Amino acid sequence: MNFVGLDLGSHEFKGVELKKTKKGQKELMTYSSAPAPPHFLASDSEVDWAAYSKALEKFYTEAEFSTKNVVAALPESQVFTRVISVPKMSGKELKTAMKWEAEQYIPISLEEVSLDYQVISNAAKLSDKMDVLLVAAPLTLTKKYLKIVSSAKLRTAGLETETLATARSLVGLDSSSPTTLVVSIGAATTDISIVSGGSIRFTRSISTGGEAFARAVSQELGFEISRAREYMSSYGLEESQLEGKVMKAIKPIFDVVVSEIKRSIAYYTTHRKNDLIKRVIVSGGAANLPGILVYLAAALNLEVQIADPWEGLSIPEKFGREELEDIGPRFAVAVGLALKDI
Ligand SMILES: Nc1ncnc2c1ncn2[C@@H]1O[C@H](COP(=O)(O)OP(=O)(O)OP(=O)(O)O)[C@@H](O)[C@H]1O
Ligand SMILES: [Mg+2]
Repeated sequence: MNFVGLDLGSHEFKGVELKKTKKGQKELMTYSSAPAPPHFLASDSEVDWAAYSKALEKFYTEAEFSTKNVVAALPESQVFTRVISVPKMSGKELKTAMKWEAEQYIPISLEEVSLDYQVISNAAKLSDKMDVLLVAAPLTLTKKYLKIVSSAKLRTAGLETETLATARSLVGLDSSSPTTLVVSIGAATTDISIVSGGSIRFTRSISTGGEAFARAVSQELGFEISRAREYMSSYGLEESQLEGKVMKAIKPIFDVVVSEIKRSIAYYTTHRKNDLIKRVIVSGGAANLPGILVYLAAALNLEVQIADPWEGLSIPEKFGREELEDIGPRFAVAVGLALKDI
């Protein structure tokens, strides 16, 4: 079955369709993005969702995907993800145990969530414990996303979290991948996740992103928000540009992201002393901030790379390499979703 990886962003729709070639390669067929009407997705009102769906339907029709089946992602900020350690047990025992465990860790009633878990391969074979990744999505959230998709006359073939999709497209869910911290800076939120041995081991989400940086530029320099976005995109965190004015406006907000990354690293390193974080990958639209890699590398003292979700895919000649490279960080979720069941 064909399907499209559909990233329902707060500010932008992004879709990717891949196909498997006869040689078994995964080939890019179509990608597309379009601005989404802001403030509707985060709303609790069905009227607002309908407006979002209407725009989604238009985007989808214009993008000319080959199918109406989509795999979509739930925003990390609204999903509960935890890694918990339990005594080694059988699959059957685990099912019961997870209900107990979930009750302790998840702040809403189990009747109101869809619960998923996955045993994380444990390197320490002699250990009598095992780690399990627990993901709980509120039913109100899954229903909302299903409704948004169906109102746009599309069919949901799968739903997963944004961090899982990103881990798949940027790190790879195989045990040989180096321990990596992924930071996805979108318009409204920033998600941080740590992927080790092919599994997600840590996630955190904060409500700061590209829009907050743009607002800071708008306030500090007295620009309208659209102009502020342009300045942010052109000068970003470059100290040498415009006497560092844009950089100075963004810095205090960006440093909130930096300190959250540092806290995540500190937390992780105390819990898994022998699992050093080897690199950081930045994705999301705001990963294109000029100067971001140098700034982060200096602040974190780690190797920092820009997200390239196209790596490993077969790309037909008709697609421009430069354009793909440019939009790569924004498409990490959509590519990860498109890779889910291919
Ligand atoms: N070159 C650039 N430099 C800095 N920021 C940029 C650049 N290009 C886009 N952005 C910002 O990236 C954000 C959009 O990113 P993205 O498409 O990942 O968001 P989204 O998925 O719609 O949002 P969210 O994931 O928070 O719901 C916007 O805030 C936009 O201003
Ligand atoms: Mg996003």
